[in-house]
Amino acid sequence: MNKKIKKILNKKNKSKIICLTAYSKKIASILDNHCDLVLVGDSLGSVLYNYKSTKEVTLETMINHSKSVRLGVQKSLMIVDMPYNTYRNPKEALRNAKIVKKKTKCDGVKLEGGKKIIPIVKTLIKNNIPVMGHVGILPQTDKKFSFKGKKIKESERILNDTKLLEKAGAFSIVLECIETKLSKKITDYIKIPTIGIGSSSNCDGQVLVIDDLIGMSDSNFKFVKKYADVSKIIDRAVKKYKLEVKRKQFPAAKHSFRN
Ligand code: KIV
Repeated sequence: MNKKIKKILNKKNKSKIICLTAYSKKIASILDNHCDLVLVGDSLGSVLYNYKSTKEVTLETMINHSKSVRLGVQKSLMIVDMPYNTYRNPKEALRNAKIVKKKTKCDGVKLEGGKKIIPIVKTLIKNNIPVMGHVGILPQTDKKFSFKGKKIKESERILNDTKLLEKAGAFSIVLECIETKLSKKITDYIKIPTIGIGSSSNCDGQVLVIDDLIGMSDSNFKFVKKYADVSKIIDRAVKKYKLEVKRKQFPAAKHSFRN
């Protein structure tokens, strides 16, 4: 088994698993010093490209950003989201996941879904492609985004999906916007780590979209926390540059090629 995956599995019930998304090299290299897992999420569709949904994200886009992220990630586990319509059946999933793995040198892929995707999960794992599951809100296919697990039938289905994913060999599961009680029930029941986003602190780890965390997105979800306002820092820097150019303070009179 991949050593980094083993390390993440060992954290269950011991210490929280730290995950964030990244879409490019420099940010990925900063995250690499702090995260257990760096995810090249298809959230890049809304964050970077302003797409209405992640459905528009292509395999090529995921591969290009993942190649950049790979340059910055050495210590953390690097997982890549398989985009919409690239894993409709085991054959298609295997073909595309192999391309992703070969071109990006990622450690594994993430797929959205439960019972329906079990044959796909099994096929990838059988072919040495580690799989991270994703249940709760499924941005690739859900029409309505609201908390999951309020209704008994829905919560039974989600719990069952997580059991099936674990049995199929997934090494971890993202729980997106799942009710507190259900996220605790799942986390207590399954032996692989749960990684929450909008699913309470009951999960074994947490993931956030990096642009939300640093104040570089327009997200207003309540479960998101802005830890810094990088937009303001950029704004100030650009203003200063503009002023200095106008005043002929930049470039300096005596300048050299490198610092
Ligand atoms: O696409 C993404 O960034 C994700 C995380 C938010 C879990 O799936």
